[in-house]
Amino acid sequence: MKTVHVSASRGYDVVIGGGLLETMGRTAAQLCPGRTACLVSDDTVFGLYGDRAKASLEAAGFTVCTWVFPHGEQAKCGERFLELVNFLAEHRLTRADLLVALGGGVTGDLTGFAAACYLRGVRVLQVPTSLLAMVDSSVGGKTAIDLPAGKNLCGAFYQPVGVLCDTDLLRTLPEDIFRDGCAEVIKYGVLGSRDLFDRLAAAHVRDQAEAIVADCVAMKRDVVEADEFDTGRRQFLNLGHTLGHAVEAGSDFRLSHGKSVAIGMAMIARAAASKGFCSPETRDELIALLTRYGLPTETDQTPEAILRTALGDKKRQGGSITLVVPAEIGRCVLHKIPVEELPRWIEAGI
Ligand code: GLY
Repeated sequence: MKTVHVSASRGYDVVIGGGLLETMGRTAAQLCPGRTACLVSDDTVFGLYGDRAKASLEAAGFTVCTWVFPHGEQAKCGERFLELVNFLAEHRLTRADLLVALGGGVTGDLTGFAAACYLRGVRVLQVPTSLLAMVDSSVGGKTAIDLPAGKNLCGAFYQPVGVLCDTDLLRTLPEDIFRDGCAEVIKYGVLGSRDLFDRLAAAHVRDQAEAIVADCVAMKRDVVEADEFDTGRRQFLNLGHTLGHAVEAGSDFRLSHGKSVAIGMAMIARAAASKGFCSPETRDELIALLTRYGLPTETDQTPEAILRTALGDKKRQGGSITLVVPAEIGRCVLHKIPVEELPRWIEAGI
């Protein structure tokens, strides 16, 4: 078992290892003075782990209410958000009580945002069940719902009281969803660790999950501690996301986030190599590792379509946009460009 402590506006531990779901109730009891917990999960995850999670909380003395929603990104919407906060109010949760987000990124984002808003803030324990949520979305306090105009457009920075990454839960994760998480893991290697990148090439993430998740979380912790509110260094975590989000939205979200980020990273690496930011070898190494993990590196969307969506991205600031550009494996740079230059980057990346 490994523990990574995050010192942000609220300090908390991210615990990584097997068997954490069983002891989750005891951990929750230490993090929260109240004795009512609302367990939030989608129907798929609740079917797999809901009973065990509930039993663990009840054994630790909690009265548990459960809010289960139909799985899928479409649940991250205003309607579901209002249903959830109304449910909390109907069950009279107080500021002493706890929300438990058991699931992937959608569950974590929706529950985290409800926790940030209900009574102007109640405790939330994140229990991510997907690789992607373990290495990225459950850590660092970004919470949000989507709006019709775009993804994650309404949200808050709101840190959890703890994060439990039970790596045993990865065993039931469908291969395709596991692969999505691998894209984010590869991102960390490209961003800041040649060593991590090489370990990903040497053995599959599945066979070294605890160590890999812990290393990614430690890297994310360093970034979040330096820039909790995303005004500088945290932007590095957007590697592959500007173009990736555009491809994801352009597919009407039929293409998953992880696969879109993989395409976004490959595109920015191609553009970076053609503009002399990195060598062709760096580009090829990145694309080869993505391919090895079964991730896509190309899109059939047109440059015009990608541009249209990229211009609506929330990372755009007025007339400029900051790209995260690989310089070598383990090192990236932030490169601010006027939006008029974006078409050339997209064309070079396709
Ligand atoms: N997922 C990117 C971040 O937490 O900043």
